[in-house]
Amino acid sequence: MKSIGIIGSGIVGVTLANGLSEAGYSVCIGSNTKPTVEGWNGTVGLFKNVAKESDIVILSVKGTSAEDVVRDLSEVLAGKTVIDTTNPISDSPPEDGVIEYFTDTNDSLMERLQKAAPKADFVKSFNSVGSAVMVQPKFSAGKPTMFICGNNAVSKVEVSNILDKLGWESKDLGGVKSARAIEPLCRLWCIPGFLDNKWDHAFKFLS
Ligand SMILES: NC(=O)c1ccc[n+]([C@@H]2O[C@H](COP(=O)([O-])OP(=O)(O)OC[C@H]3O[C@@H](n4cnc5c(N)ncnc54)[C@H](OP(=O)(O)O)[C@@H]3O)[C@@H](O)[C@H]2O)c1
Repeated sequence: MKSIGIIGSGIVGVTLANGLSEAGYSVCIGSNTKPTVEGWNGTVGLFKNVAKESDIVILSVKGTSAEDVVRDLSEVLAGKTVIDTTNPISDSPPEDGVIEYFTDTNDSLMERLQKAAPKADFVKSFNSVGSAVMVQPKFSAGKPTMFICGNNAVSKVEVSNILDKLGWESKDLGGVKSARAIEPLCRLWCIPGFLDNKWDHAFKFLS
């Protein structure tokens, strides 16, 4: 199986690292500053080294820093599938349970990232669910759906296979511009959390 490097040492990075490791992948976490990462017993390296040495990269850094991080990694990400878990959440607090974004409706963070590293193949995924139900989710209604998008069809198949191994069905919503629709799902997902303190739900596509 291909090696996976996770750029980001927060709860998403650690959750995916443990889940992917359990699923049999060789995983390394990249941190911007830390030599060790709480909750992860595997290898830790700096962002650039981890991105360089991995076949597939997962980006899970703070949304406000994502563009700068990706610009800095642009050369080492060239030709690689980059699974983008980030959301463009601003530093302002939520209002009435609605988080504020620093992008508007005719823009998305992933489009900015794709421009910052044009030779990388970004695929949006894992952004519309909380870390508590991100790996092997169990719902009485069956498998939840992860909406994905990106310009490279092969990369999207690669990501769908990873999602399958982590217990998800995937729904391909097209090219990078569709991140304009997928990123706001995080705002929707968070509202029951902030209003009712419920953080254990997920989306399902029915047709
Ligand atoms: N939390 C969730 O349940 C959830 C669910 C879905 C998607 N997301 C999205 O996934 C991403 C990661 O979320 P998270 O909650 O795991 O962690 P986070 O706190 O948003 O991000 C942690 C990572 O960002 C890095 N970082 C922070 N500021 C930085 C800066 N100025 N320059 C470079 N790197 C910086 C940290 O560096 P260090 O390694 O040095 O600490 C760490 O690796 C976010 O974009 C979030 O919106 C979160």
